[in-house]
Amino acid sequence: MNGLPYLLALTFVTLAAANPGRTELDNLEEFLQPDYILEEEFQREGRNRFNRRCYRPCLADEAPRICYYRFTLEDYVTLGAQCGACPRNVTDCFNPQCILADGCERGMLSVNRMLPGPSIQVCKGDRVIVDLKNAMPARSTTIHWHGVFQRGTPFMDGVPSITQCSINEGQSFRYDFQVDNEGTHFWHSHDGFQKMDGILGSMVIREPRSTDPNSYLYDYDLASHVMLISDWFHVSADDHFPGLRTHDAGQDPDAFLINGQGRDPKSTETPLAVFRVSHGRKYRFRIIGGTCGVCPVQLTIESHSMTLIATDGNSVKPIRIDSVVLYAGDRFDVVVEASEPLSSYWIHLKGLGPCAAARTYQLGILRYIGDNYNTPLSADPGYEGFPTNGLVLNAADGPCSGHNNSLCITNLVSSRPVESEMLKPFADISLEMRYGFHTFTVQELFQTGTHHRYFQSAEPILSATVNNISNTFPPSPILSQGADISPSSFCPLDSKQQPKCSSGYCECFSVFRVPLNAVAQILLVDVSNIPAVLNHPFHLHGHAFRTIATGVFNQTHTLEGLRAALQAGRLPIMSHKPAGKDTLAIPSKGYAVIRFRANNPGFWLFHCHFLYHLATGMSTVIQVGEHKNIPTVPRNFPRCGNFLNPVKLRLKG
Ligand SMILES: *[C@@H]1O[C@H](CO)[C@@H](O)[C@H](O)[C@H]1NC(C)=O
Ligand SMILES: *[C@@H]1O[C@H](CO)[C@@H](O)[C@H](O)[C@H]1NC(C)=O
Ligand SMILES: *[C@@H]1O[C@H](CO)[C@@H](O)[C@H](O)[C@H]1NC(C)=O
Ligand SMILES: *[C@@H]1O[C@H](CO)[C@@H](O)[C@H](O)[C@H]1NC(C)=O
Repeated sequence: MNGLPYLLALTFVTLAAANPGRTELDNLEEFLQPDYILEEEFQREGRNRFNRRCYRPCLADEAPRICYYRFTLEDYVTLGAQCGACPRNVTDCFNPQCILADGCERGMLSVNRMLPGPSIQVCKGDRVIVDLKNAMPARSTTIHWHGVFQRGTPFMDGVPSITQCSINEGQSFRYDFQVDNEGTHFWHSHDGFQKMDGILGSMVIREPRSTDPNSYLYDYDLASHVMLISDWFHVSADDHFPGLRTHDAGQDPDAFLINGQGRDPKSTETPLAVFRVSHGRKYRFRIIGGTCGVCPVQLTIESHSMTLIATDGNSVKPIRIDSVVLYAGDRFDVVVEASEPLSSYWIHLKGLGPCAAARTYQLGILRYIGDNYNTPLSADPGYEGFPTNGLVLNAADGPCSGHNNSLCITNLVSSRPVESEMLKPFADISLEMRYGFHTFTVQELFQTGTHHRYFQSAEPILSATVNNISNTFPPSPILSQGADISPSSFCPLDSKQQPKCSSGYCECFSVFRVPLNAVAQILLVDVSNIPAVLNHPFHLHGHAFRTIATGVFNQTHTLEGLRAALQAGRLPIMSHKPAGKDTLAIPSKGYAVIRFRANNPGFWLFHCHFLYHLATGMSTVIQVGEHKNIPTVPRNFPRCGNFLNPVKLRLKG
């Protein structure tokens, strides 16, 4: 019964775009989208309803399309035989199926032998179908569509053991969902550390220009101006888990990449990512923080400022910035005006936080069309890059004043209405989540017969927690096989039926419950006991939230004081129209107060987007609605779980 909206939606799109009168599509092949996007096709496409390219200008009165993709996931390699004599012979660098990354040879994982994998470029309302084929020996996988709400299709959210079974080697899984929320999103593996080894790509859901409040600010919004930033090791990401102690210790990346390209400053001459612009035109750049590690990256474009117009798919009142900091999972859409002299300019990515010590940086190129490579770029600006004495958006522990050269997420104002209920004094349900680490002693951790999950950071040995719980995913997905999960897997509950650990440290499956349609408030508090300054980026699946407040504590501004203010209905509001977001970096040892309308029934992961923290428990599931509200999975949805049959004694005779 609850699968009905899903079926109706699918039927509608099928009928509108395919063969009317049929209930099953037998010609999916015809809707296959190309791996490589040809920019020339974008405008030509226009209103031709017989054309099936999904990358097109989006029109308000156009029927949605079916956008079909095939993803083959494989073990792969950079600088393999297909790369010939690259980079000595630059022509060879562009050979089909040649992946270069930053020019260091290593094993990796790939989708369709591309890095990043194919970009999904569709219009709001389209139906996206992705056939994933897992061809990775000895690895299971799932893909999460980061930022896509999956309203009505929570079973397509791609979180192993929460929304589906992992897809095993040799298996295929058809992701099939309608995209209702526009924005710059991305897709990535949610299994293990595969995202950091190459299983990621961009996903842009455009809306018609007529409905974008900021469309007057840009002339072009093209696939070729999507900028996916990732971090990269020179070994497999698995090699850093649980992590080495002395050689190459910890989990800090060796490099950053822009659209899978870069250059190792010490050794390589591989081509950098190039973004072409015409003088006098204004371009919408869609910047994606596809990183996995704890280092944020600061992006600056030589001689160019930017105008921020959206974040995580939510448009904001335009604001001029000079530089932007991205954490794992953040997206920022900016307009760049090509108003400088015809030339080429550096795009500079600077690793901050723990990456500052290693001075990790990367470059890309903004090239004016017509420059004909005649004007040389200025000298490599090195780690320091360009002076950023202008406004920096999303800087670590930002003071949020807007005066001290930095802008916080709480300074951003939504350019669409925000329901007033969102800022009412008392939310319908308030949760508190204190996240941090459990520190193991060597004696505790390494006892015969105990096998706690942990990671070796630069110094202490840790597991990651929310409310002292290291979240342990169940053997069967709670969404599709909730009844198969043993009650003993779940965390103990408090008097309000929310998970609670009363012994100081627990490893269990943590599920918070939020009533359907409630205004839910979460107070997130960083209680980590390690010296590193980390702004943990928390990502909520299935919803966007409003950031009511962020900050750091001091002698007068304490957690107790903040709790008391919230309990008295005194919200520390920065903006009366707070911007929507689905990923938020929280000040180190500080806090954030977020709110969202829990109007999307399902089981939604809420987690730190630092991969090694997620892998060791810094997550929880938020159950929105009761079981009867949650859409049922399609027929034949894969099943999985433990096999622990009771042992029967066979007596002789
Ligand atoms: C580069 O390699 C291609 C074949 O992949 C060859 O045709 C071309 O001559 C080479 N160029 C140089 C400068 O060696
Ligand atoms: C902001 O102000 C603090 C002190 O209030 C100062 O230490 C810091 O350098 C300032 N930051 C910038 C970017 O000017
Ligand atoms: C959580 O753990 C810390 C130490 O690891 C302890 O001080 C604190 O009391 C614990 N909290 C709860 C609610 O058990
Ligand atoms: C403590 O923090 C509050 C709120 O951010 C601020 O107004 C106050 O000036 C700070 N006090 C000190 C002593 O830094």
